[in-house]
Amino acid sequence: MKSFYLTTPIYYVNDAPHIGHAYTTVAGDVLTRWHRQRGEAVWFLTGTDEHGQKVMRTAEQNNVAPQAWADKLVEEAWKPNWRALNIANDDFIRTTEPRHMDRVQKFLTSLKDKGYIYQGDFEGPYCVGCEEFKLPGDLLEGNLCPIHSKPVENVKETNWFFKLSEFTDRLLDHYKKNPDACQPESARNEVVAFLEGGVRDLSISRSTFDWGVPVPWDTDQVVYVWFDALLNYATAVGLTDAPDSEGGKKFAQTWPADVHLVGKDILRFHAVIWPAMLMAADLEVPKKVFAHGWLLVGGEKMSKSKLTGIAPADITDHFGVDAFRYYFLRAIPFGSDGSFSWEDMSARYTSELANDFGNLASRLAAMVEKYCGGVLPAVAEDTELSASLKETVAKADVAMQNLDFQGGINAIMDFCKQVNGFVTVKEPWILAKDPANQLILEDVLYNTAESLRALAILLHPVMPATTEILWESLGAKSTLGEIGAQKIESVAKWGQLPPGATVTKTPVLFPRLEVKE
Ligand code: MSP
Repeated sequence: MKSFYLTTPIYYVNDAPHIGHAYTTVAGDVLTRWHRQRGEAVWFLTGTDEHGQKVMRTAEQNNVAPQAWADKLVEEAWKPNWRALNIANDDFIRTTEPRHMDRVQKFLTSLKDKGYIYQGDFEGPYCVGCEEFKLPGDLLEGNLCPIHSKPVENVKETNWFFKLSEFTDRLLDHYKKNPDACQPESARNEVVAFLEGGVRDLSISRSTFDWGVPVPWDTDQVVYVWFDALLNYATAVGLTDAPDSEGGKKFAQTWPADVHLVGKDILRFHAVIWPAMLMAADLEVPKKVFAHGWLLVGGEKMSKSKLTGIAPADITDHFGVDAFRYYFLRAIPFGSDGSFSWEDMSARYTSELANDFGNLASRLAAMVEKYCGGVLPAVAEDTELSASLKETVAKADVAMQNLDFQGGINAIMDFCKQVNGFVTVKEPWILAKDPANQLILEDVLYNTAESLRALAILLHPVMPATTEILWESLGAKSTLGEIGAQKIESVAKWGQLPPGATVTKTPVLFPRLEVKE
């Protein structure tokens, strides 16, 4: 079975991760967890981009060899960061690994053999921050990179070129025929306009430094870092391996990638250069490149180099990991820019997570304990709730598959609100005052518990740890099995929690926030 294959960009190891990087990776994690719960085979790749001048210079500034620098950052910053954020990636690729470097060299040789690579002279401005050749018209005030606001450097070298221009028409045709291949629409329009403006061949090697993959037939040159980096998506799953080898089988199972998640600043690399490289090798192009927006601070892209980088731990220490995972996807339409503010995050934490969701869970557990001795009563179905759950699941599933995280989460949280409304209207605490109402009271509690079962499953991809706690409190783990194994398609089947299950009080799911100094 072909896996749903999703990738994040591989991150430069010139610094530790900030919340902009975490935004992409969390989105990838939520989407892959959703697809796993849809019962699909999934492959989720992330990793690090370790070659090039940017990383080399940072290592030099720190008086460390680039490999040692990369090793340290990967082991002490990147991998622990993803573990802390509960990222369930299946693989982690580093571009300095032999499995990657060998395959890059093989791929490059095959393109040369096919006549797509030639030697030429290059001269032009280069931004080391972007690791990108710029056109003079891209620059601000004549020599500043518009992204980094730093002066570009003039590069003049003889190096190897890839015949990118030959693929312009095929790429245009591809995006016209497959609108889904580049999303959102604004991103596709940008790519099409860029291609219509004409594309030049691309210099794909550098000779003035050596921190990179050596060009196999000209070892005085190293492969241009983006050409090396883009290939990670395919080298990690066995590109160039013989079809009957382990790598070859993996490749057949995963390729083409279903989604490459990228920030909008690196869209052109992914939607122009990368598919052209694949076309040159007669390989299938990715099904979708999705460009999300930037997290802004003070109206500008948040970045370490501009000293506006916020570490994920600065937020998770205060709000917890699950609230972090929830907030950015809930608050910002995926594809648009969004500003981070403590005030907005605190407000949503309190109203949506602590009040709407967390309180509902703790009230239910407390009431089952108080009014039913902690034992789940008989199955009951409120048809309004069960019908609405069906609609919720359908809506959320469509939205999630379209990478509309906000729409998906909204649909689920609207259902949560509706369940709160149900409890408020039914007033179980009043019903409990008269023993004659015991059966009605039990109906209300079963319906609420069953709704929480569904909420736990639907929110599991977004908030894996919290929903696991809720799952156990509902007595679901011992009766229905692991929460991650619950399928989206059967969530709406009403009456799954077995009567007689033991419901226990949870620790507070979203504790009251401490006032921040
Ligand atoms: N190494 C390249 C990617 C190579 S992929 C073959 C790179 N690395 S990066 O570390 O600079 O950025 C990685 C990702 O983080 C990009 O998708 C970028 O858009 C994202 N973000 C960096 N800052 C960001 C924000 N402030 N907001 C949202 N995403 C941001 O580029």
